[in-house]
Amino acid sequence: MSGILCALADLSATGAKEVVLSEDGARISVFVVQHEGKVLGYVNSCPHARLPLNWRDDQFFDVTKQYLFCANHSARFDIQTGQCVRGPCKGQALKPYPVSVVGQNIIAAPPGDPPQA
Ligand code: FES
Repeated sequence: MSGILCALADLSATGAKEVVLSEDGARISVFVVQHEGKVLGYVNSCPHARLPLNWRDDQFFDVTKQYLFCANHSARFDIQTGQCVRGPCKGQALKPYPVSVVGQNIIAAPPGDPPQA
């Protein structure tokens, strides 16, 4: 599936944006983050208990802003790789959701397309 997920400007408040999609009749929550000049996407499902990471709208970073954060049991994830580096799912990883930046928008990258335009 490709299409506009959100505007780059939507990330300005928290550095992240959750987007709920409908794919093949199923609801899927993904989020995009901007960090060190890159825009990355992940499925919003923690590998520990398959719960959404965030308790608050568009809050996906820990207090240091150096890690993605699961609010359920405080797992921390490498922003660039999605790998859990601390918490009950250490060694597991978030599922990437490939995205690209086109103009002022973030779009879902079709399967097979490299992330980041
Ligand atoms: S559900 Fe994410 S750490 Fe438990």
